[in-house]
Amino acid sequence: MTEDHRSIVRRGRRPQSASWPVVSPISPSVVYASPDADALDAQYEGRAEGYTYAREGHPNWTILADKLDWMEGTPTDSGGGVVTASGMAAVGAAFQAVLKTGDHVVAGNQLYGRTLRLLKDEMPRIGVEVTLADPTDGAAFVAAIRLETRLVLVEVVSNPTLRVADMAPIAAACNEKGVLLAVDNTFTTPRLYHPFEHGADLVIHSVTKMLGGHSDLTLGYVAARERELARRLYEVAVTWGLTPSPFDCWLAERGLNSFEVRFDRAQANAAALADHLAGLEGVEAVLYPGRTDHPDHDRAVALLGGQGGNMVGFRLKGGRAEVNRFVRAAEHIPFAPTLGDIATTLSHPASSSHRALSPEDRAALGITEGFIRVSVGIEEIGLLKDEFAAAVAASRAG
Ligand SMILES: Cc1ncc(COP(=O)(O)O)c(C=O)c1O
Repeated sequence: MTEDHRSIVRRGRRPQSASWPVVSPISPSVVYASPDADALDAQYEGRAEGYTYAREGHPNWTILADKLDWMEGTPTDSGGGVVTASGMAAVGAAFQAVLKTGDHVVAGNQLYGRTLRLLKDEMPRIGVEVTLADPTDGAAFVAAIRLETRLVLVEVVSNPTLRVADMAPIAAACNEKGVLLAVDNTFTTPRLYHPFEHGADLVIHSVTKMLGGHSDLTLGYVAARERELARRLYEVAVTWGLTPSPFDCWLAERGLNSFEVRFDRAQANAAALADHLAGLEGVEAVLYPGRTDHPDHDRAVALLGGQGGNMVGFRLKGGRAEVNRFVRAAEHIPFAPTLGDIATTLSHPASSSHRALSPEDRAALGITEGFIRVSVGIEEIGLLKDEFAAAVAASRAG
């Protein structure tokens, strides 16, 4: 800095180094300075690459998007996916990029609760009609598609009962009828399923969950097969302010480095815990797609190579009182309505994610008062088995 710039706010120094950091630096800068107006022109006109304003792009966003594109197999000629400020921002960006008044959407009837609220409460306000259908029954689901249907949205594995969607007929019908197929791949992750390989036009993630993996960031990702739609997603995200913070992107990049190891360990734990729970007095039923007694096990074999993921559902014998005793006894396992953390967490859908449904609607989905959802982490499996056995026993000691 020269003598003329002796001001603490004149931030001029950029350290030079012939060597470089092995970890991505965090770039929190909101704005980027240019040498002159011609240089700015060159950037805006695409003749030079660079950032201008963080809502429109920043280095940590680019680095993370690139990693997610690679993991998800996002077609490179689409220009890549968009990282968003949350999973819901990704869902919202997809809707805003695609839908207009008069359009119709067919969506799975067991989607994440907020996605269902977006579909049921917000979409009708802009004149978009929504039909919810059961994606485990491919023929019935496809029958809900109409002439005005513009978008189909499914989650491959549903929350919380872990039903597996009948993806092949759904993808075939969307393709044949020219309807866009969006797949929320949050539960399955790129470790189990690659929607673009199975006919999806849009892929959505809550990066907050297993991809981020440490319950310390909130992000989403949405990508399109076609370049024009990918460009729309970017424009919508930037214009509606759905874009991500540098620090969250940096954390997510760091988390992704261990994603495969975390996922594989958590999945192996989940499979072992599911079998363990099934043998406990006090457990009425276990829902795990990797088990042969799961209603969609054959489909899990066909679509997911028989892998069941890291989520396990089970029904305690009894109801709310037994659940409360179980949760209190499992004192070292957080009772917290999220999933995909490195440590095991528990949730009770009837009082959290699915509380807005009537008891009858919940019962129709198999979500009873005794139903507990487990997001299995990477702890030593012996510890998990002991903790669950003790808590199930405590649930019966009322
Ligand atoms: C399947 C699925 N999609 C989307 C979301 C929304 O993600 P976020 O909480 O990051 O907004 C969630 C959140 O739990 C989810 O489970």
